[in-house]
Amino acid sequence: MKVQLVDLPKILDLRGNLSFIEEMKHIPFEIKRAYWIYDVPGGEFRGSHAFRKNEEFIVALSGSFDVFLHDGNDEKKFSLNRSYYGLYIPKLTWRKLDNFSTNSLALILSSSVYEENDYIRDFDQFLLALK
Ligand code: TYD
Repeated sequence: MKVQLVDLPKILDLRGNLSFIEEMKHIPFEIKRAYWIYDVPGGEFRGSHAFRKNEEFIVALSGSFDVFLHDGNDEKKFSLNRSYYGLYIPKLTWRKLDNFSTNSLALILSSSVYEENDYIRDFDQFLLALK
């Protein structure tokens, strides 16, 4: 599966709405880890790296932020601002999270547990890894 915005189920209810994600159904991987980014001060960004193997799915559970994805040729910007869709990011994609709104909350589901060796933190190394 390529980079893709995924619409998640939305159960509208007068008591409050509900959305959910199931592995291998709404996202093409088994979830090994969930982490979240919050309390981002104005002007800061997160990420700016790629993963050799790890795949991710990012949801703006609250507030908004932009995800910039680079595939080695082009950069694309995805604005996330609703809790009922998310962005699927395959392995070997350079990604940066920026422009966090006040009180924004980014949920990231990952296909692998945390492994520093899986990170590519240098953009030139990333371009080499794509070859
Ligand atoms: P990192 O993914 O490098 O964040 P960013 O790219 O936004 O700067 O994570 C920052 C630190 O947090 C990293 O050095 C180690 C730690 N960390 C974990 O221990 N487990 C995790 O699942 C993640 C995502 C990070």
